Amino acid sequence: MKEKLEKLDQKIAEAKLGGGEKRIEAQHKKGKLTARERIELFFDKGSFEEIGMLVTHRSANFGLDKQKFFGDGVITGYGKVNGRLVYAFSQDFTVLGGSLAEAHAEKIVKIMDLAMQNGAPVIGLNDSGGARIQEGVVSLAGYADIFYRNTLSSGVIPQISAILGPCAGGAVYSPALTDFILMVENTSYMFVTGPNVVKTVTNEDVSSEELGGAETHASKSGVTHFACENEIEALEKIRQLLSYMPSNCEDEPPMLPYTVGNESREELSKIIPDNPNQPYDMRDVINGTVDSDSFLEVHKDYAENIVVGFARLAGRSIGIVANQPAVLAGVLDVNSSKKGARFVRFCDCFNIPLLVFEDVPGFLPGTDQEWNAIITNGAKLLYAFSEATVPRVTVITRKAYGGAYDVMNSKHIGADMNYAWPSAEIAVMGAKGAAEIIFRKEITESEDPEAKLKEKEEEYATLFAHPYNAAARGYIDEVIKPEHTRQKLIRAFEMLENKVSTLPKKKHGNIPL
Ligand code: HXC
Repeated sequence: MKEKLEKLDQKIAEAKLGGGEKRIEAQHKKGKLTARERIELFFDKGSFEEIGMLVTHRSANFGLDKQKFFGDGVITGYGKVNGRLVYAFSQDFTVLGGSLAEAHAEKIVKIMDLAMQNGAPVIGLNDSGGARIQEGVVSLAGYADIFYRNTLSSGVIPQISAILGPCAGGAVYSPALTDFILMVENTSYMFVTGPNVVKTVTNEDVSSEELGGAETHASKSGVTHFACENEIEALEKIRQLLSYMPSNCEDEPPMLPYTVGNESREELSKIIPDNPNQPYDMRDVINGTVDSDSFLEVHKDYAENIVVGFARLAGRSIGIVANQPAVLAGVLDVNSSKKGARFVRFCDCFNIPLLVFEDVPGFLPGTDQEWNAIITNGAKLLYAFSEATVPRVTVITRKAYGGAYDVMNSKHIGADMNYAWPSAEIAVMGAKGAAEIIFRKEITESEDPEAKLKEKEEEYATLFAHPYNAAARGYIDEVIKPEHTRQKLIRAFEMLENKVSTLPKKKHGNIPL
């Protein structure tokens, strides 16, 4: 028995070495951690259980039979994150460049299936040269097996991808099918075709970082939700993200203990400027309302005219969607509509109540927007809110104009409680634009058109630039003082805790993609 135990120890030690010390050193030199170090850092200390440590590939193509490594370039298993079950795979770049082929894919598929059966999230730590070239079509089959499971798992269990090295070609589509992507600055990149192909086809000179690095995807394409400075920050961010989510769609998000105290927040009354055209930072409203330091912004550097993220309100996990008057006056455009819609749908999948802060002057005009299908894309946000069955509450802080009023979680599309601050202006459009249209004749024929316009603008504003017409019809449930916002929201979400709402029977809807 002693010999047998020693043999096992030997195999485990070998497996733990991955591609060997030299390659581990090279990985560290690039500023990257190893697959095993990432796993150790990510899970609660000592909680990780590895599955398939001794799996090897069975290919002999191109001398692969002489390049067998235990684990086949990926560590898979399960463990605890803040005491809750989570599955993960961590690709090992030191073994054949972390390339994915038959056995490697089978290991990932195994934990994905376990995660679905047991209702727990799957985290992918990606660091791979892509499909293992030597193994041919079985590598492609392996990817497809994963894509298929990513899709079937979508909306059932949370899936999060961290890109911690290369992720190129078709390999990008597994992360793209998951709920959230995190990247690390300077050590990770994602693209369908790399700089060399780009140069050949379009004659553009571009570096990997510029083409598909963390900053590019965080701000330009929106492919990644988080750009992290280093891997430790990325791993910590995933743990934090998970803390707002339930383990699966049948579960409720974790609730932190909270004792209700004095919930009045005087500082909220000082945020809205006297001049209705002056910007302010909606994050001040969000942070002033939710539990302190609980706001985790998602997609921070992309489509900054809308702010989305998770927070807690009296310990309860909520998703926030808010227009941002500090950027483009908070208009809705193509990118902000897509960003908002995707976040709303994530929250609705996983029973996370939605809170909307609204200050929106309308949709952004222009050929750029129209030709890039603001019609179809704006409809995404409208559709996402309309079909969401989680508790939904809106606070209109200032402007709620035009179609954007309807879209931003209005009562008419199924919101449960809608509040307005006294500074709210709920109308078809702003006073100046409205006066110019409906009093055009009167203004042009007047002796002093400028004075006439001003007079008509004031007339219109008196009639519409307030929340009381909407409140009179019950479109607004209550006009509240800003300092009472937190208290009202805590009570509203508590009241809506057991909300039951179902959609008409259908196979699935047809969101305007
Ligand atoms: C087999 C691979 C590999 C791959 C890397 N390696 N990628 N082995 N299949 N796809 C091996 C290398 O041969 C090398 O082995 C080791 O991993 C480390 O790679 P290096 O090139 O030394 O590392 P680095 O300089 O950091 O460059 C990393 C890289 C480069 C940019 C990722 O390796 C690369 O371009 N790889 C090929 C990428 C690619 O074309 N993949 C297929 C994409 S198509 P040794 O033994 O020399 O150390 C795809 C389709 C998916 O993925 C289909 C889904 C539908």
